[in-house]
Amino acid sequence: MKNILVSGSNGQLGSELRELCNFYDSFNFYFTDIEDLDISDKHQLDFYVKSNKIDYFINCAAYTAVDKAETDITNAFSINADSLKYISEVCIANKVFLIHISTDYVFDGSKNTPYNEEDAVCPISEYGKSKLQGEEYVKASGVKALIIRTSWLYSSYGHNFVKTILKLSKERDSLTVVFDQTGSLTYAKDLAIAILDLINDNKLEAVSFDIVNYSNEGVSSWYDVAFEIANLSGSKCIINPIETHEYPNAVAKRPTYSVLNKRKIKNNYGIIIPHWSVSLKACLDKLLGLY
Ligand SMILES: NC(=O)c1ccc[n+]([C@@H]2O[C@H](COP(=O)([O-])OP(=O)(O)OC[C@H]3O[C@@H](n4cnc5c(N)ncnc54)[C@H](OP(=O)(O)O)[C@@H]3O)[C@@H](O)[C@H]2O)c1
Repeated sequence: MKNILVSGSNGQLGSELRELCNFYDSFNFYFTDIEDLDISDKHQLDFYVKSNKIDYFINCAAYTAVDKAETDITNAFSINADSLKYISEVCIANKVFLIHISTDYVFDGSKNTPYNEEDAVCPISEYGKSKLQGEEYVKASGVKALIIRTSWLYSSYGHNFVKTILKLSKERDSLTVVFDQTGSLTYAKDLAIAILDLINDNKLEAVSFDIVNYSNEGVSSWYDVAFEIANLSGSKCIINPIETHEYPNAVAKRPTYSVLNKRKIKNNYGIIIPHWSVSLKACLDKLLGLY
């Protein structure tokens, strides 16, 4: 049996992992969130990992409030960066393989072709900077680790763009959504399956350190996603495209282009990735009670 620790397991990705756990008989899961295991507490981490003989640590815990992080910088860096120093040290001491989730926000979005793992990083928000610092701590520590950069994550769990648009498109006659940010949605369930398959198929045993990209296939703007949500849910709500500067609520800067190239995870790790529209439909069917 492999002992797998999931931190931040009340969040979107952690909840998807929890839902899948019955399909992986050879894993013994330890699902935790801040009340059981605070990743910013090195002593707690060490005690938990040691006493449960953990083999794989999937770190889903993070400070993910992108706009709030612009002013709450100390807390964002404490959770997204400093904690990764502690997690890495504890994983090394206890011979644990670390799977850490990072973000497209480590890039500035100035490219217009998909980002490879080797492209220059240059975050433009405090959240992005804190996540990059976390990546750098993991890499510098020498821990055996896989960092997975993902983008535009959503799930039937938690708060996210998909659930917000689904709700608002039922309540309103029209909505405005930005069309000048281009990226790729990631259904957290698909990412959760990919992570568990990597462990189950022993694809990580020969890995010392690697960074890979993962999002769903295809490319869209937020406007396209909102349009598809209204369409698939049968809403009559009219979705109107606007430019980012017309949207007043965003405090943090977002990359205008953050499509991730998934060639590496597909070719080197054998991961098959669904198209965003197929996964979006699956999530909407779940949210609308259609299966
Ligand atoms: N959401 C996105 O669009 C997106 C895009 C790219 C990458 N990512 C990355 O993907 C990963 C998973 O994201 P997600 O959307 O699933 O995140 P999420 O839903 O915000 O879940 C994160 C979980 O971590 C918990 N947490 C916060 N501080 C903690 C601490 N000190 N110790 C233990 N747990 C703590 C949170 O609790 P509270 O809710 O109580 O704070 C929450 O339950 C993160 O690394 C994130 O940076 C996300």
